[in-house]
Amino acid sequence: MSEVKVYPDRASLARAAAEHFVTRASEAVAARGLFTVALSGGSTPRSTYALLARADNKHPADNKHPREFAPRVDWPRVHVFWGDERCVPPDHTDSNYRMAREALLEKVPIPIENVHRIQGELPPDQAAAAYRAELEPFLGAGGRFDLILLGMGADGHTASLFPGTAAVHEGARWVVAHYVRRQGRRPDKLSAWRVTLTPVVINGAAHVTFLVAGAGKAERLREVLAGPYQPDVLPAQIVRPADGQSLWLVDAAAAARLRQEVE
Ligand code: 6PG
Repeated sequence: MSEVKVYPDRASLARAAAEHFVTRASEAVAARGLFTVALSGGSTPRSTYALLARADNKHPADNKHPREFAPRVDWPRVHVFWGDERCVPPDHTDSNYRMAREALLEKVPIPIENVHRIQGELPPDQAAAAYRAELEPFLGAGGRFDLILLGMGADGHTASLFPGTAAVHEGARWVVAHYVRRQGRRPDKLSAWRVTLTPVVINGAAHVTFLVAGAGKAERLREVLAGPYQPDVLPAQIVRPADGQSLWLVDAAAAARLRQEVE
């Protein structure tokens, strides 16, 4: 079952997500000496990444003023991956790697060799194969991430699993490359070659956590969580970790329709 937690606004959602990251990292490092996390792209997680980068020591650390997030993470033991990437070079404005690097990774003491980006500058199939090879030494043969962060698009996509694409039902490969064309639109920012984790790896994770914000997502969120199961239309529904926790951290605007249903 999925757990849904609702926060009043985007700022408190970001704090909760940062807290969640810190907790999952501490647990994994204590258990195995290592924390493997897949970051998501999109705009929603940016403020979470910015918070994770903060090392605000204005106050002495106590219960009222806990140390801000960065010093609470054992960064040399964190291995960062991505859920998906557009096939663009790493300095491109559409690069999910670039967003995470600027908001978080270049501000914390994570060794460069712990940052495992999808090489979007390669031909798509090569990028997928290289990423698959990069994953196995860290995830083991079972392909188990400690934490995968995901977003949900207003069309119900997650990672780069888009409505009507075969990748939604991929049952063997961990990573696929595919061209995603946005129906009924001229090529736009979303029409692109993309490399994505498949449900094989996503549903093998110990924790899969969605961050969803904004009124524009409210109706789709209701359909995904409370509507009929139709992952071809709503790919986010394919996310059902077999032996892990599925958690939705959402702001009140995105949860508006859920609340109405519950009331
Ligand atoms: C990407 C994503 C994608 C994203 C959603 C939500 O690379 O764009 O990984 O799945 O998470 O589109 O994006 P927003 O947070 O911008 O709404």
